[in-house]
Amino acid sequence: MKLTLSVIKADVGSIGGHTKPSEAMLAVIKSRMKEAEARGDIIDSFVSYTGDDIAILMSHAKGAGHELIHQLAWNSFVEATHIAQNRGLYAAGQDLLKDAPAGNVRGAGPAVAEIEFEHNPVKENKIRPAESFMLFAADKCGPGAYNLPFFLSFADPMYCSGLMLPKMIGGFTFRIIDMDCVDGDRVIDLTAPQDYYRIVSLLRDNERFAIESIYSKTHQEICASISAQRLHNIAGTYTGKDDPVAIIRTQGIFSAPEEILSPFTMAHYVGGDARGSHNMPLMPVPLNTQVSGAYCLPIVSSIGFSVDKEGSFFRNGEYIDFFDNVAWDQVRVKAQEKAMAIRAQGWSGIAMLPTKELEYGGFRETLADIDKLFYIK
Ligand code: 13P
Ligand code: MG
Ligand code: MG
Repeated sequence: MKLTLSVIKADVGSIGGHTKPSEAMLAVIKSRMKEAEARGDIIDSFVSYTGDDIAILMSHAKGAGHELIHQLAWNSFVEATHIAQNRGLYAAGQDLLKDAPAGNVRGAGPAVAEIEFEHNPVKENKIRPAESFMLFAADKCGPGAYNLPFFLSFADPMYCSGLMLPKMIGGFTFRIIDMDCVDGDRVIDLTAPQDYYRIVSLLRDNERFAIESIYSKTHQEICASISAQRLHNIAGTYTGKDDPVAIIRTQGIFSAPEEILSPFTMAHYVGGDARGSHNMPLMPVPLNTQVSGAYCLPIVSSIGFSVDKEGSFFRNGEYIDFFDNVAWDQVRVKAQEKAMAIRAQGWSGIAMLPTKELEYGGFRETLADIDKLFYIK
């Protein structure tokens, strides 16, 4: 069968600031998903949150970008928005930028990552005898936050020794999107290792370029899909950070979970944090973690599923929460220390993002007002 995994994510309101959605909001979305499963519109679903963002993960046979799937997610978010409004929650409906998008919700606010592939998990299937995948969700940062870790996982044997195996030695193709382009999806396909330096020349600029998808060169199979869009480019105004989600197929012809997770031990600096305007370390956290620590640290969650023959991944109610492990406690301490180190210099220099990238347009308005007071003496 052709199976599609879709994750559609939005911030539609949170308790006491941009922290986490309410239980009632999550409950309404879960029940809409159960109804859709009963109708046969989707095969399976899983609803979770990372900070103030709700991620709806679905499996179905309708293909990527399908109207019914996108409308199901959109309408569920609208209902959750009403609950948030009634309870006076913060930023109710924040990521629903259009009134009622027709069809696909791409460009209407929610982040979308989808993967479509031939699903036939049997022993005789040499390429995918079993299907396992990971869901990543990050809050308080942009899609470029994944550039460094996902590049290293699929291009650098220092992090992924599996790249030396015959199944993977042919390399991976990275589709990189220019997020500054508002006229359409401006992309380039580059393959590591041969294009290694070209790829990093682009990916070093996390605010403009992001990995949109990754493919196995040898097997011509899609491996990863990332919600690589900048909301402020769509809305033309502050809309919160983009808080990206990603789906990655793992094992066999692709990198294994540990090879994908290891670059996150860096807690590397990314654009985001309070008012989307700082450079701060990305902290790995368990799923369903609220944002309530010092600053507004960018956070990322990572969970794993196995897909059965029918395309169901959560029927038995089980999943793996990768960052919910004592091994990551040390990384969390490191992230907090890195955060305190850079925050000690407050607004100065690289501690905040360059003016063009300041997510709150208000910062630029302040600058424009001050600019009028300059004079040439
Ligand atoms: P969100 O994008 O998660 O809503 O965060 C907004 C923000 O500005 C945090 O300070
Ligand atoms: Mg928010
Ligand atoms: Mg958020």
